[in-house]
Amino acid sequence: MVKIAPSILSADFSNLALALEWCEKSGADYIHVDVMDGHFVPNLTIGPPVVKDIRKRTTLPLDVHLMIENPQQYIPQFVDAGSDFITVHAESSGDINKTLAMICNAGVKSGITLRPGSPLSLVEPYLTEVDLVLVMSVEPGFGGQGFIQESIDRITSLRRSLDSNDRGSSLISVDGGVKLHNASEILAAGADMLVAGSAIFGTDDPADTIRQFKAMD
Ligand code: DX5
Ligand code: ZN
Repeated sequence: MVKIAPSILSADFSNLALALEWCEKSGADYIHVDVMDGHFVPNLTIGPPVVKDIRKRTTLPLDVHLMIENPQQYIPQFVDAGSDFITVHAESSGDINKTLAMICNAGVKSGITLRPGSPLSLVEPYLTEVDLVLVMSVEPGFGGQGFIQESIDRITSLRRSLDSNDRGSSLISVDGGVKLHNASEILAAGADMLVAGSAIFGTDDPADTIRQFKAMD
């Protein structure tokens, strides 16, 4: 069954409680939280205090995607805030192995991700350690961009690599430009989980859109 992680980046930040309510009542599996620092990506979003408040408002697991430099420095704060998954970019500064170990030792699930232009070999060394591999299908930084079609081949090859090396336990999640019309192609390529922001919160009835994504299988 496909797992859906609505990205609240495209929700109304002045009414996140309502966005969380839509996610809960429609059967969403996770809440995807995009953290951006204005350095790793040219945009600023939210930090640990907001994650902490979101935690109080939902029982859904929080899938926190860090688009920040030196993620290691901030892991304790995102753990304390109640993250269930913490995903870091392989291109970010600092020691990625140490950062992933820190997440793991805190009892939180870890994820690794990479920019659409980075070679998949960048995440290969971490595949046995992580719980989730996030394939970015847009350049990280902003919601509402178009899906990069070459991502389909990357998902296929990542799926093959995970399966052939018996590393099948990590989930493959896909983030960026995911819409109802391309979801089945992304799932057929081997994705387990879809992150969708504008495709959900840009519609008149986000809860109904989540239900439609969940019915994709
Ligand atoms: C982009 C973020 C995405 C973003 C996706 O850097 O990582 O999670 O919210 O938004 P859509 O679904 O609109 O492409
Ligand atoms: Zn994201």
